[in-house]
Amino acid sequence: MHAQYEITLPPLQVFQDGTATEESLEFVDQTCDRLDSVAPERRVHLLFLLGFLAHGAQVAGDTVLRERIRSGLDAYLDAFDTDRRTEAGRVTLLYLLAQFPEDRDRILRRVPQGSLPEHEWAQLERCLAELDPADPVLGRAWPTPAGWTLSPEELAADRRWARGLDPERVAFLWAKDTRTLLAYCGARAYAALSGPLDDDTPGTVAVPAGAARPRRRDLPPLATDVGLLRCPVCAGSLRSRAPQIVCRSCAAEFDSTPGYLDLSGVRSAGMDQIAGNSPMYLNTYETLLRPAFLRVTGANWSGGVGVEDEDRYLTEHLRPAPGPVLDLAAGAGRWTETLVRALGPDRVIAMDLATPMVERLRSVLPDVAALRGSAENIPLRDGVLSAVSCWNALQSMSDPARAVKEAGRCLRPGGVFTLLTFVTSTDPVNRFFQSQHEQCLTVRSFPLDELRNMLADAGLTIRDERISGTLIMLTAIRETPSIP
Ligand SMILES: C[S@@+](CC[C@H](N)C(=O)[O-])C[C@H]1O[C@@H](n2cnc3c(N)ncnc32)[C@H](O)[C@@H]1O
Repeated sequence: MHAQYEITLPPLQVFQDGTATEESLEFVDQTCDRLDSVAPERRVHLLFLLGFLAHGAQVAGDTVLRERIRSGLDAYLDAFDTDRRTEAGRVTLLYLLAQFPEDRDRILRRVPQGSLPEHEWAQLERCLAELDPADPVLGRAWPTPAGWTLSPEELAADRRWARGLDPERVAFLWAKDTRTLLAYCGARAYAALSGPLDDDTPGTVAVPAGAARPRRRDLPPLATDVGLLRCPVCAGSLRSRAPQIVCRSCAAEFDSTPGYLDLSGVRSAGMDQIAGNSPMYLNTYETLLRPAFLRVTGANWSGGVGVEDEDRYLTEHLRPAPGPVLDLAAGAGRWTETLVRALGPDRVIAMDLATPMVERLRSVLPDVAALRGSAENIPLRDGVLSAVSCWNALQSMSDPARAVKEAGRCLRPGGVFTLLTFVTSTDPVNRFFQSQHEQCLTVRSFPLDELRNMLADAGLTIRDERISGTLIMLTAIRETPSIP
């Protein structure tokens, strides 16, 4: 039986406007010594709050608060022995203990491998680990190091890449990995306080990675259809001079020899648009990183939006539109394939700015017209598209309002725009984790009003809006023939 008393504190405001308040010190002092006398279901909330305050203190450089929380480590380790029996207790203690790399040995003695599921123990171990500058392991931390099982060749390629970076960059990337992982663990613990988590053990998400198919020699017809395309430099019309496409006005030349037409107007150095990521990023993007990203940024922890929901949404909302459809910022192609299944390959154009993404897409979907180009300057004529899908990408763009305007410009009247992106959380705790991920992964979220205004400014009228957590899927129609 638990002791009869519970912690009774005057109402304390411990967190405000994104940071801990002075009263948080009093909360920590009152809480740490008495944790063992609190019922486990309440204790898990207190332990979460301690973890959250330590995390906030570390980000804000508040060493006093952080050290005060750290001084309760023995109590947290004692709590681990009993509280790890529930999911919420286990993931909360993982989050709290992961904050103290100075105490790595002490923590791992009490929380040895096997005392947590493998992918969770790997998270804890990595958060507590020290960088080995001689053999840095970078970009393979979140959502769990256990999700990155590389072949010997991949491992060698990854090591070569990491060893080629300068020491400052290595330290920066290591710290960024730790920060991203800790935010993942924190958001996960917070979600577990409200209900069971969807299983995020690597390998359980049913997203088969695209398999390379034989490459076609010729390009699919839409890829070089000069009736649709326009010059990204001067917006002039284009003519074909195989294997190039040439602008009739400014004489700029665009190459299609890589197997896709490069209408970016920007030189590419291979990994440029996904720079800073391990070369293995592409191999794990769809199966491991994307679902994890949706969990934190979209608060999608209980499986509110699964891959099949995304597929169904796109299929339902894009099917009625005849004519060419653009997958804007298509990535590696998994969701382009959904459009192809719903509409047939002859109607789909896939575009992305990152060369590695376009190349991957070409290799898994050889029948789909692929372009390299910028969403902020879509190399297509006004009103030529029946639909544009911008799926899980607007948050990565440097000028999202411009991209939405460009989508509106290319749509014919009655054309459909589908969007999956993220709204800014109004829950301050979730917002903290969401913003940590935004900073680490160079993305953003949108206040709902901003998003709606962006669409209205592009002449797009919202017809359907589905929000789950902070993930939003919406459909809009370009109603007016004139572009605002
Ligand atoms: C998170 S991925 C989304 C890929 C895919 N649509 C999906 O649902 O998984 C975002 C993609 O946006 C691309 N991207 C970012 N900014 C872009 C821009 N200005 N123009 C075109 N693509 C862009 C990136 O290269 C990346 O492939």
